[in-house]
Amino acid sequence: MRIIFFAGKGGVGKTTLAAATGLQAAKKGNKTIIISLDIAHSLSDIFDLPKDLLDLNRGKPLKVSDNLWIQELDIQEEIERNWGEIHKYLSTLFNTTGLDEIVAEELAILPGMEEVSLLLYINHYARRRAYDAILLDCAPTGESLRFISIPTTLEWYIKKIFKLEKTLAKIARPLAKRLYDVPLPGDEYFDAIEKLFNRLHGVEELLTNPEVTSVRLVTNPEKIVLKETQRAFLYFSLFGMHIDGIIMNRILPEASDENFFSQWKKSQKLYWKQAESYFEPVPVLPVTLFKNEVLGTDKLLHLATKVYGRKDPLAHFYRGMPFRFTKEDGNYMLTVKMPFASKERVQLNKTGDELIIRLAGFKKHILLPRQVAAADSVTAKLDGDRLRIQFKGGENGKG
Ligand SMILES: Nc1ncnc2c1ncn2[C@@H]1O[C@H](COP(=O)(O)OP(=O)(O)OP(=O)(O)O)[C@@H](O)[C@H]1O
Ligand SMILES: [Mg+2]
Repeated sequence: MRIIFFAGKGGVGKTTLAAATGLQAAKKGNKTIIISLDIAHSLSDIFDLPKDLLDLNRGKPLKVSDNLWIQELDIQEEIERNWGEIHKYLSTLFNTTGLDEIVAEELAILPGMEEVSLLLYINHYARRRAYDAILLDCAPTGESLRFISIPTTLEWYIKKIFKLEKTLAKIARPLAKRLYDVPLPGDEYFDAIEKLFNRLHGVEELLTNPEVTSVRLVTNPEKIVLKETQRAFLYFSLFGMHIDGIIMNRILPEASDENFFSQWKKSQKLYWKQAESYFEPVPVLPVTLFKNEVLGTDKLLHLATKVYGRKDPLAHFYRGMPFRFTKEDGNYMLTVKMPFASKERVQLNKTGDELIIRLAGFKKHILLPRQVAAADSVTAKLDGDRLRIQFKGGENGKG
């Protein structure tokens, strides 16, 4: 089984690439599903499906061709299916605190419910081995990165807070009834949370298992998009997810109008090269800009061939973690795989939130998490084929 996330900034081509990859994978005989959280329902547009077909389908998988299903999650449906008691309690709570019922109901859709619903589906399909490939069309990075932290946060919540809360609620309920108007959650609420948690069990291992799951970051050859891709790379890595490819979409073809586009082509080349050096050893897969929007099966399959050539779209294009942050004795530590490690002097430059490592013609840029960027001493040591970099001082460091 294979799980691939397509993530990136808004509008870079995530949905299109997820659809193209799905079609190609299905064509090669893999039972494939593409799941999207996009409320704009662009998957159905890309496959040229009539809108009401999806509306009738209410967020369930819809078969679009041999071996291929698409599923566009519908938060209202998900609330009914997964969040019943929890949503009910929250909206009563907000309603009693003086909010209008409709506003209270709306507010009770907590940020993260959609993402958790997505994780529930992934876990459910994976447990049942329902598909050979599950492709996820993510929301734009800014919003969607939250979902990767959900399993860890929930586990913490359940272990540390939930048990305590449950006991407290039992003790406080009769008392609170007399003193306050605010309702305390009943047993159904806690049961619902517990049930949800059980259904999520194992999803984190699934997402961080490099044999199963990888992330493909979709980007464009532009400064700001590239910076966001670096940030996404950092966050996915911090959560232990493996990135197996950077898809560089919308590169202007050589043949495009020389006079008008020459500046664009020059700057695109520069950012393309930069991306290769930033993300090395993770491969950058270039895709040119098509003459028109990429809609319908033929164009999507054509796009898939541009991205993957003859390669299996479900292959792992890279295995491993190019870098890893850890905390040892209160200090942050960064371990970087150095393919050409030698005794030569390693040169480190920290400029703001970026670290540049130079070693014998090899140059690597790594975006630093905020706490790490605050450090004022950076030292490095070679350990086999790994470079171990220690950050000390600054706001959070000890040393
Ligand atoms: N290589 C390409 N050539 C031509 N058009 C493209 C290419 N890649 C994507 N597009 C077009 O760009 C538009 C946006 O693509 P898409 O919807 O896949 O982006 P997205 O990252 O999913 O956006 P959002 O963040 O809004 O979900 C679509 O109209 C799509 O057809
Ligand atoms: Mg999209």
